[in-house]
Amino acid sequence: MTEISDSKKAIFDRFAAHVSSGKSAFFLNNGIPFVFGRREGPYVWDVDGDKRLINCHCNGRVYNLGHRHPEIVAALVEAAGRIDIGNHHFVSRERAELADMLAALSPGDLDYVIFGVSGGESIDLAIKIARKATGRKGVISAVGGYHGHTGLAMAAGDPKYKSPFLSDSSDFSQVPFNDIPALESALTPDTAAVIFETVPATLGMRIADPSYFVEAKARCAANGSLLIIDEVQTGLGRTGRFWGIENFDATPDMIVTAKGLGGGVYPITATIIRRDLEAVFHDDPFIHISTTGGADIGCEVTRRVLAISSAEPFLAHVRHLAGLFNNGMAALQAEFPSLFVEFRQLGLMCGLKTPHPDLGPLLTKTCYDAGLLCIFAGNDTSVVQFLPPLIIDDRLACEILERLHEAFTNAKAFVDAFFA
Ligand SMILES: Cc1ncc(COP(=O)(O)O)c(C=O)c1O
Repeated sequence: MTEISDSKKAIFDRFAAHVSSGKSAFFLNNGIPFVFGRREGPYVWDVDGDKRLINCHCNGRVYNLGHRHPEIVAALVEAAGRIDIGNHHFVSRERAELADMLAALSPGDLDYVIFGVSGGESIDLAIKIARKATGRKGVISAVGGYHGHTGLAMAAGDPKYKSPFLSDSSDFSQVPFNDIPALESALTPDTAAVIFETVPATLGMRIADPSYFVEAKARCAANGSLLIIDEVQTGLGRTGRFWGIENFDATPDMIVTAKGLGGGVYPITATIIRRDLEAVFHDDPFIHISTTGGADIGCEVTRRVLAISSAEPFLAHVRHLAGLFNNGMAALQAEFPSLFVEFRQLGLMCGLKTPHPDLGPLLTKTCYDAGLLCIFAGNDTSVVQFLPPLIIDDRLACEILERLHEAFTNAKAFVDAFFA
């Protein structure tokens, strides 16, 4: 058991008593007794100590722009002085302006935007729209893919997340990611939608072949099925393009975005759909509502997020950092070939592949000890997700590489001592 201060022990005890006994024990037992205190830019500090981490997990890309980006906080404070959540039934200037911006940033005729509060909620809606538009029920997703823990999003995920909740359904099937023949044989006359993440993060950052999404879209179109792309993690500049799917030149029927959309200070998510799909709401525009989805105040925050993250110099900076990390990771791989077997990368959406499922958790711990917050992928624990904030400079990128070197050195020493 890790030694911790009395004040922190009180937090862990209260958390264990009233939020989650399991999570409390997990972090204590694994030597990561960290409680988020001060947070600023790329850094988070422990609540009662000097320990500071560079956040290279970014809470699944919530903190693409770092913690408490001054312009985002200013937008929130300004909006809070003027407006509130608004009324989801009424026409809203804030929602109209934000939807206009998102439509302009989206490919093809993805012109309509329906807002939500969580990624799962917006995935649920995408599946609902696909079902109503096609009159079919079937949904195909990727083995090991992840779309959230709400109803239909959970049903599109792996059995380990839905079976305990008795939510398996024969309407949902899965195919291996990046496998067009498998997708082709899974499509049936009842397939309403195919849903994929652009880069399946929980599956360990698998990068698809360049033609995969164009081919998947063509197979869907030929079958009368819709292609939903989950950009919850890959959107908003993370890959060096505004949407991750732009790297593959494919135009899906719907895009779902969440996490970083609220700049880390306001929860807001969106399902962006083809213009003609809006017809599913023509007979009853109130058939789907979300009381706090697309709150007026959140829309003002998100307009700032979009203005920052769609600017070409910002995206060019992401691509520049991606090149820098690509070089640095090659050097690390050369030095630690027994631990680091593959660098998976699309811009700053990266994964460090190790040869064993126990090594992801080990590296997570040695990264923590070296001052980096990096977390292994839930559905492939041999991979450590590497997702630095997009706003870092070259100096910090080099420091991150040095700290990774320390993490690999310590992981190797551990492996050598116990398994030599
Ligand atoms: C790819 C992807 N889709 C959907 C979700 C669900 O988002 P939320 O947790 O906001 O419901 C997540 C969350 O981690 C995600 O990573």
